[in-house]
Amino acid sequence: MTHTIYFGDNLPILQSLPDESVDLIYIDPPFNTGKTQGRTQIQTVRDETNGDRVGFGGRSYRTVELANRAYRDRFDDFLGFLEPRLIEARRLLAPHGSLYFHIDYREVHYCKILLDEIFGRDAFLNEIIWAYDYGGRTKKKWPPKHDNILYYAKDPENYTFNVDEIERIPYMAPGLVGEEKAARGKLPTDTWWHTIVPTNGKEKTGYPTQKPLGILRRIVQASSRPGDLVMDFFAGSGTLGAACLELNRRFLLIDNNPQAIQVMRQRFTGVSDINWIGLPAED
Ligand SMILES: C[S@@+](CC[C@H](N)C(=O)[O-])C[C@H]1O[C@@H](n2cnc3c(N)ncnc32)[C@H](O)[C@@H]1O
Repeated sequence: MTHTIYFGDNLPILQSLPDESVDLIYIDPPFNTGKTQGRTQIQTVRDETNGDRVGFGGRSYRTVELANRAYRDRFDDFLGFLEPRLIEARRLLAPHGSLYFHIDYREVHYCKILLDEIFGRDAFLNEIIWAYDYGGRTKKKWPPKHDNILYYAKDPENYTFNVDEIERIPYMAPGLVGEEKAARGKLPTDTWWHTIVPTNGKEKTGYPTQKPLGILRRIVQASSRPGDLVMDFFAGSGTLGAACLELNRRFLLIDNNPQAIQVMRQRFTGVSDINWIGLPAED
């Protein structure tokens, strides 16, 4: 079983891959794409003493800043950055394929609208809430302790969902359901309680945005079959690849950060059947 890891900007790599060649895509894109342009709206007012511009007839004008649109621009840039990549993601998905899109509570609503436009509103299956309990708690509002994962099928009438493969979880009140049911556990819902990556555990790679293997394992188990090709084009530390190795799926990972490649090299030490493409030069 051969896996692939690319170093580079994901857009041209996605564009080079064949239609309908991927069975499942999970992505966890960074909000800060590094393309922020601080565009500032200005107005000029007549001012003969403190003017910083000269206009018609040699008159002097002063510039007044109306509103700093940096945040809005940053947001527009983010959606503009995502859109062509999501269009490629849909093209690459096999007819029975699906996409899991991981994002935080501040951006999720805008991303949902963009994804509905690209995949179709009917193709939206779930908003999964990953709830955790870690870190400080503000006293000024409800402390935000969850991420959102939007789940879309390419074809909502026909997609891989292996309900019998999903690892069951304990009932909250096992005494109420009888011994046999309690022993079997229950199916998880769209709300997933799961710890963040433990700070001292052996799962920790040191990559700052690493997601827990347990979350990725559940996604891969439910929405792909053994031998399928599963892709993450914002791969970071390669958590999706680690889940695929456990579950016997092929993976295709892309990241443009040399540190991510370094972390994945360590994480996948001893895995010989990985095709590394476009590796960064070693220092
Ligand atoms: C939030 S992290 C993903 C973390 C990952 N889920 C994990 O468990 O480690 C997002 C990743 O996207 C990568 N990235 C950002 N822009 C990219 C681009 N244009 N092409 C490829 N990778 C990109 C970043 O380098 C970063 O590693």
